[in-house]
Amino acid sequence: MTPDSVHLRSGEVSVLVDLRSGQPAVLHWGALLPETGLADLPLGLEPAVAHSALDEPGVLALVADRAAGHRGRPGLTGSRAGGQDFSPRLVLTDCRLEGPTAVVLTCADPAAGLELRSELRLAEGGLLRLRHELRNTGEDVYRLGELTCTLPLPARATELLDLTGRHCRERIPQRHPLARGAWVREARHGRTGHDATLLLTAGTPGFANRSGDVWSVHLGWSGDSTSWAERLPGGQGVLGASELLGPGEVELAPGQSYATPWLYAATSQRGLDGLGDAHHRWLRSRPGHPSALRPVVLNTWEAVYFDHDLDRLRELADVAAGVGVERFVLDDGWFLHRRDDTAGLGDWVVDPDVWPLGLAPLIDHVRALGMSFGLWVEPEMVNLDSELYRAHPEWVLRAAERLPPPWRHQQVLDLGHDGAFAHVLGQLDALLCDHPIDYLKWDQNRDLIDAGHHGAPAVRQQTLAVYRLLDELRARHPGVEIESCSSGGARVDFGILERTDRVWASDTNDALERQGIQRWTGLLLPPELVGAHVGPPRSHTTGRTQALPFRVATAMFGHLGVEWDVSRASAAEREGLAEGIATYKALRGLLHTGDVVHADHPDPAAALHGVVAADGSAAVFAFVQLTTSVGEVPDPARLPGLSPDRSYRVEPLAAGGSPSTSQRSGPPWLRAGGVVLPGRVLAEAGLAMPALHPEQALLLRLHQV
Ligand code: DGJ
Repeated sequence: MTPDSVHLRSGEVSVLVDLRSGQPAVLHWGALLPETGLADLPLGLEPAVAHSALDEPGVLALVADRAAGHRGRPGLTGSRAGGQDFSPRLVLTDCRLEGPTAVVLTCADPAAGLELRSELRLAEGGLLRLRHELRNTGEDVYRLGELTCTLPLPARATELLDLTGRHCRERIPQRHPLARGAWVREARHGRTGHDATLLLTAGTPGFANRSGDVWSVHLGWSGDSTSWAERLPGGQGVLGASELLGPGEVELAPGQSYATPWLYAATSQRGLDGLGDAHHRWLRSRPGHPSALRPVVLNTWEAVYFDHDLDRLRELADVAAGVGVERFVLDDGWFLHRRDDTAGLGDWVVDPDVWPLGLAPLIDHVRALGMSFGLWVEPEMVNLDSELYRAHPEWVLRAAERLPPPWRHQQVLDLGHDGAFAHVLGQLDALLCDHPIDYLKWDQNRDLIDAGHHGAPAVRQQTLAVYRLLDELRARHPGVEIESCSSGGARVDFGILERTDRVWASDTNDALERQGIQRWTGLLLPPELVGAHVGPPRSHTTGRTQALPFRVATAMFGHLGVEWDVSRASAAEREGLAEGIATYKALRGLLHTGDVVHADHPDPAAALHGVVAADGSAAVFAFVQLTTSVGEVPDPARLPGLSPDRSYRVEPLAAGGSPSTSQRSGPPWLRAGGVVLPGRVLAEAGLAMPALHPEQALLLRLHQV
């Protein structure tokens, strides 16, 4: 017998699905509710009936249903020839509970020939995963427009936060009220995009890092997508997201089905840090989550760009190993005819002109120094100036005979052709079989524009093919780690992260830009999944000059690496870098397993963030002076997330040197080398901070005493 409702509970979160109307509808998604005593909740929440309205108030079904009176953005669009079955009424036929945290619901409209299977899974940390699968049970083709995952928002969620961005400036937050109507973010890049919404968050007015009730959605998909928040005329709020399909992109033959990507939905009464926690805990609970200590990387890109020379790279490797680097990654420029970015993509064989002895001499050298070896690839792309294109000009994604507009001189290899897929899989497989490669930096450097396969829209097919390619390579080479890079941070999503081990958050290594980029990437990803490199003193992307301690303190809160020609660095710089790397190594166990916290610091010119060990026994914080402050001396830093009743010794931490200041004398506790205070006092009263120069950070180490 079908129950009246299903109540999923985990951590601080309840999801209550009402089944009485025959259409599953989420009545509550938010704070944990008691296990019992909810029988009258649907009655208690049933709204009044307005004049000039439906005689019976409709429900907001899991797939928002026009046949039941929903007048907002529809949950399902599609039809058969002549527009038939455009508005199905999907009614519950089966409810399968899988323990206290998961349910699979089946609904059908036999007359419309459609069946829908919806899965809701609530993870331990309260992250809800939701997806639908639609099957055509009819006798002719069903042309799908859109199948969305939606969740209700309470009336008090009146403010929105989402992210936008561009190359070298990813993850710019934008906030605004949720008025009546819809706020819709569409990603039409054929990749997740530099301007990805990442998380679309709604919350109570003024929600902040540590306060406010918040709800968010993220779509685990690396192709086109839509995310939106909507406030309906009746006052009902909705958060939703879906894959954005091209015309005719999904045509279901009888018996065929379409599955949405997973929607990841988080809610918290603790502000944005609560959302971060839910995502981080989910990712860290995956069996494939990187468990080993994240090795310090040196990436050659900003050190040598395309100028590959064995002796120079060997020298770079020597110095890298000397400062404590553990993984050496050879970036773009090693393959056939790749002397600049106009040629070579598609030919994944070592260039004999530049590497007459192959990569072996470099790899052997790197490994003899005790480092692992990584290699850059961009498997989804092709240059017109390549052996591959000359042999197979037909293997380019295109809508018609004409080629799509070039982007960085390149086109997209159409992986929908079996031959193209086999070519790139074969070359990558051979590379990994022939060389001891531990790591691939998997790049993707253009938007998909005018992307068709045999003239039909193909972003979905291409995205799935990329996933298949990654899955196949990982199955063949399970020990190889893969980084998801896309002109910096244009492919950061849970879909790609199912098959990669970290993301490259941005092409800017400017530490000031990185403070923001990493903070907002961190809403979704824990630090161990976010590549963060110490760049050269003068940033290649902004021209800013920054001191080493600030560059190190910034990279410390990610998966730390170096992207700098350290063979040309001064002895003092190398010494400072070695100290910074040693500090990172000492702390990475904590940084990559602890709870990430952000204070709501009153001074917009400064930021305070940190990581608190999961058992509360230790922590690392960074007090960051971004620009100059209005105040003569900084406001006290109130350290969040500590155990209130334990006492901690707080000490300054040197990493690459000490930050520079603008003060006659620093706070006495700092001059004394430390202070011991209870967690509650550190959180409420806080600690005096030094007056740092702009673009400086003070690192703090805390130990329970
Ligand atoms: C774009 C990446 O984001 C960079 O880090 C670098 O790998 C270049 N591509 C190489 O072409």
